[in-house]
Amino acid sequence: MKRLLTAGWMVLGMVLGCVWGLETARAATTTEEAAKPIPVLLVKADQVTAKVSPMLYGLMTEEINYSYDGGLYAELIRNRIFKETPMRRRGRGQPQEDPNTQQTPNYLVNWELVQSGGGAGSIALDTTQPMNGALTNSLKLEVNSAGKDQRVGVSNGGFWGIPVRPNTKYKARIHAKGGNGFFGPLILAIVSNDGKTIYARAEIRRITDSYKKYEATLTTGNVATTKDARLHIWAGDTGTVWFSLVSLFPPTYKNRPNGNRIDIMELLADMKPAFLRFPGGNYLEGNTIATRFEWKKTIGDISERPGHPCDAWSYWSSDGMGLLEFLQWCEDLNMEPVIGVYAGYSLRGETVSPGADLQPYVQDALDEIEYTIGDKGTTWGARRAKDGHPKPFKLTYVEIGNEENLGNRRAGGNQYDARFAQFYDAIKAKYPQIKIIGATPVDTTILQTRKPDVYDDHFYRNSTQMQSDTRHYDKLDRNGPKVFVGEWATREGAPTPNMGAALSDSAWMTGMERNSDVVIMEAYAPLFVNVNPGGMQWPTDLIGYDTLTSYGSPAYYAQKMFSLNHGDMVLDASAEGIPTRPMEMRMRGGPGGAGEQTQTMQDVPSLFYNATRNTKTGVIYLKVVNTVGTPQPVRVKISGVAAVEPTGQAVEMSAGSLEETNSITEPTKIVPVSKKVDGLGTNFTRTFPAYSVTVLQLKGK
Ligand code: AHR
Repeated sequence: MKRLLTAGWMVLGMVLGCVWGLETARAATTTEEAAKPIPVLLVKADQVTAKVSPMLYGLMTEEINYSYDGGLYAELIRNRIFKETPMRRRGRGQPQEDPNTQQTPNYLVNWELVQSGGGAGSIALDTTQPMNGALTNSLKLEVNSAGKDQRVGVSNGGFWGIPVRPNTKYKARIHAKGGNGFFGPLILAIVSNDGKTIYARAEIRRITDSYKKYEATLTTGNVATTKDARLHIWAGDTGTVWFSLVSLFPPTYKNRPNGNRIDIMELLADMKPAFLRFPGGNYLEGNTIATRFEWKKTIGDISERPGHPCDAWSYWSSDGMGLLEFLQWCEDLNMEPVIGVYAGYSLRGETVSPGADLQPYVQDALDEIEYTIGDKGTTWGARRAKDGHPKPFKLTYVEIGNEENLGNRRAGGNQYDARFAQFYDAIKAKYPQIKIIGATPVDTTILQTRKPDVYDDHFYRNSTQMQSDTRHYDKLDRNGPKVFVGEWATREGAPTPNMGAALSDSAWMTGMERNSDVVIMEAYAPLFVNVNPGGMQWPTDLIGYDTLTSYGSPAYYAQKMFSLNHGDMVLDASAEGIPTRPMEMRMRGGPGGAGEQTQTMQDVPSLFYNATRNTKTGVIYLKVVNTVGTPQPVRVKISGVAAVEPTGQAVEMSAGSLEETNSITEPTKIVPVSKKVDGLGTNFTRTFPAYSVTVLQLKGK
C-alpha cells in the first residue's frame, strides 16, 4: 500500500513537473529506499581521470544508400550526364552479375520520351557525340513533329521525384547542341507526374549546332508542396537535339552553387560535429582499382567530371560531391576534414604492390593534401584557388585506406604494412604536422614497420555486444597510439535505428567519452539513407530522408545529446548496486566469424553513466542511460565541490519500448526534451525513466 502511495506521488510529481516545466529530485532518503537499496552514483568532481578530446564527436560519410546523389547533394536530375547503367546489387567485392550491362546500348536510366497532342519523336543514348573527355555520352532527341499544341521532348523523374515547393527558384543548366535544322526553342518545365499541372517553366530561345551551356531559372508560384513531379524539356521545332548535361538545383544551404540540401545540413549543424571523415568507407576503395574514389576526377566544373560507378553499393556516382564540395561542407559546419586516401587495395582483392607501382597513388595523396592545405603558390593550392577557394583549409588527420585489416585477409597476405609505411614516410616527410591514421583496429599486428598516430576501430554490433563491452577501452595503453572509432553503430532497426539501438549506442558512448584521452574521435556510420524503395543498401543509418523531408533517428538524437553536452574533463565516477540483467549473446565462431552461430547469456548492467566537467563554467554533465523498461531511482553523490546548485537542467530522451522509432511519417516521435530540474545538491535521488538517456547539467560551486 505504502509503495502504491509512493508511486502515486511520484506520478503526480512527474505530471506537475511536466506542467510547470520543472522537475524535483527527491530528498536523499525515503522509506522506499530504506526498504530496497537503490543504485548509487559517486562522482568525484575534483578527481579528473582524463581530458575530453575536443574532436570526440564527428561524422563519417561515403556514397552509400544514396547519400549524396539522391541525398545531401542537392542535384535533382538523376543520370544528368547519361552515363548511368543498370547495376544489380551482388554485395561488396562481388563480381557484377552481368558485366555487359555496362555496355548496354540505348539504355537511358531515368530518362523517358514524352509526346502529346500529336507531337512525335524518339530518344536514344548516343556515344558518338562527346562534348569533352568527361561527358562522352549524350541523349539524342529526334523530333519528327512539333508545333503549337504538339509536345515532344525528354523527361527525368529525379531521385524518386522532383520536390516542388511554393515560391521557389530552381536553377537549370543544360549543355546541348542542335542538328538537322533545330535551333530552338527548348522549354523546360517542372510538371506533375500525370502531366496535367505545370508548376514552373522557362524557355531557352535559341541553341547552336555546337555544344554550349544554357541556363534558366524556373520559379514556382503559390503551388502545393509535392514530390510527384518530373522535369520535362520540350522541343519547339523539328530536328535533332543532343543533350550532354542536364542539371536542376533547388535553393541550397548557404546558397552554394553545386551545394547541399538545406534540411539535411540543418540536421547536421544541430549536432555540432567536430570533423567529417570522407570519402569512405568502401566507396573510397571501390570494387576495383578503376572504380576507386579518384579525387582528381571530382574537381572543377561539373561538366568536367566524368563520374564513376559506385560499384561497392551498386549505383552511379555523379561525383558532384567532389573533394572541394566535401571541404566546403566541412567549412559550412565548422568541421575539420579527416581525409581517407586510397591506399592500393580494392574490394575484389586487386592490390597495388608497394614500391614503384604504389608511388603514383602516394603522389595522388600528397597532391590531395596540397589541394587541401597548400597555398596559392603550390600547384594544387593554385588549382583549388582556380576552383573558387583561394584560402587553404585546415587539415590535421589523414587516413591511409579503409579497413585494410579486412583487405589483408581478403587478399591473403599482409601488404598493408609495407603500403602504409610508404604513405607514412612520404606524408611525414612533406607534412610532418599531419597525423596519420592506420586503417586497422587497435589490436592489430598488421602495422609493424611504422606505428600510426591513430588507429581506426570499427564496430557494427547488436545491443548485447555494445552494452557488454562499454569497458572496451578502459585498460588501453595510455602511452600508445590514439584511437578513432571511425565507424560504428548498434545495428537494430531499419532503415534507421530504433530506441533500443539508441540506448545501446548511448551506453557505448559513455565508454568512449570516459576514455576520450585515448579515443580521440568517434563517428557513427552510415550517416544517411534515402528511405525510398531501393534507396537503402545498408540498414541502420543515422538520418533518413525522402525527396522532400528528412528526420533524425533516436540514435541521431543520442549523438546530438552527447556532442552538445560535455565538458573538457572526465571526472572519476563509479557506481554501487547497479542491477544487471541477462542478455542474449549471439556469436559466430570460426575464422573471421564465419562459422556456426552460438547463443549464450551474458549479465549486463541495466544502467550506464559518465560524468564530465567544464572547467570554465563549473557545469558537471552527468549522463545516465537506463536500458530497461522500468524507471530506476538512483542516488547521486557528488564530492569535491562545496555545493551543487539546487536548480539545474535535464535533457532527457525516452520511449515506451525498444522498438519505438522515428520515421519519415513520424519524424519526431522520439526526441530529447530539455527541462529545469530542482532539488539537486551533492546528494540527491533521481528516477531515470524506462528506456531513457539523460544528461543532467549540474552547477558545482
Ligand atoms: O558503413 C558501411 C561499410 O561498413 C563501410 O563502407 C565499410 O568501411 C564498412 O565495412
